[in-house]
Amino acid sequence: MEELIILGIESSCDDTSAAVLRGRTLLSNVIASQQVHVQYGGVIPELASRAHQQNIIPVVDTAVRDAGITLGDIGAIAFTRGPGLLGSLLVGVSFTKGLSLARGIPMVEVNHLKGHILSHFIDLPDRTLPHPSFPFLCLLVSGGHTQIVEVRSWDEMEIIGTTIDDAAGEAFDKCAKVMGLPYPGGPVIDRLAQEGDPERFRFARPRVGGYDYSFSGLKTSFLYFLRDRVAAEPGLIENNKSDLCASLQKTIIDILLKKLVLAAKERGIREIAAAGGVSANSGLRSRLTEEAGRRHWNLYLPELKFTTDNAAMIAVAGYFKYLTGQFAELDVTPSARVGEL
Ligand code: KG4
Ligand code: ZN
Repeated sequence: MEELIILGIESSCDDTSAAVLRGRTLLSNVIASQQVHVQYGGVIPELASRAHQQNIIPVVDTAVRDAGITLGDIGAIAFTRGPGLLGSLLVGVSFTKGLSLARGIPMVEVNHLKGHILSHFIDLPDRTLPHPSFPFLCLLVSGGHTQIVEVRSWDEMEIIGTTIDDAAGEAFDKCAKVMGLPYPGGPVIDRLAQEGDPERFRFARPRVGGYDYSFSGLKTSFLYFLRDRVAAEPGLIENNKSDLCASLQKTIIDILLKKLVLAAKERGIREIAAAGGVSANSGLRSRLTEEAGRRHWNLYLPELKFTTDNAAMIAVAGYFKYLTGQFAELDVTPSARVGEL
């Protein structure tokens, strides 16, 4: 049997992306990151959905061409149904329906968060990436979510810990904004932190039960700290940017690791993966690598291009669903909140 060619469509937030896989092997992955939000310091939903509308056809067209295929070769379209911004999701869902209807191609809906986790099962044409074995724990850290997920199969996942307020990515982005850094703040803080002293400043650590997280206290403590200190020393942020970033980043990493280590210990799982935009953070990656050495974990860190939003992860998640014949109907609607994984 010929291997399935699957087109993935991702439009949940501010990246318009299309990817083509042959089986689980990546043929192309095109991402148009929207620049329109930078001037506002955050994603403006209405502008995001308009930019998706402008981008979606050229992005899909490029992905198809880069893959060296034609529309007629596509055996299935996987799309992000949610969670995300409703207006943004709507563009991807409507495009998928149109193409499906015009070409008679079956559709497969994908949960964006599952997509992030299953990005660990993508292969590249020239090499096989290491895939975690089940069950594994996945630290899912993105702009909208911070979770520890116990992954028992590609389909069976349980969120065992989650943030009760802000996500880790939000903590990065909001604290960056307070320091006057551009959006998204995560990568900027990552870069500045590399030259800073992580022990210089101390910020609040949350006390929440189980494997849950909280980041709003850190955000508030960071804000108050700056407000109080800047009043006395106006150049404080400018003069200590790297130390502030390094100290903030270390606090976020400490918070993330504490619960992950606890969960791994109590669940007796040593297959550990990370996923989502924040898993691109170099400090987090080296701390995870360090812990993995100490605790004999088999650690799986996604390739950088698969950490932030991309359609390759949606396509691979769709591939697994396709194999079990789980198709979406034409009356499918996007969902801003998809509770269950
Ligand atoms: O997964 P993602 O692309 O989108 C969501 O599904 O939310 O994650 C975006 C988040 C943003 O908060 C961004 O600041 C953060 O990932 N991020 C990083 C880094 N690269 C992206 N945070 C810290 N360090 C990075 N290098
Ligand atoms: Zn995401």
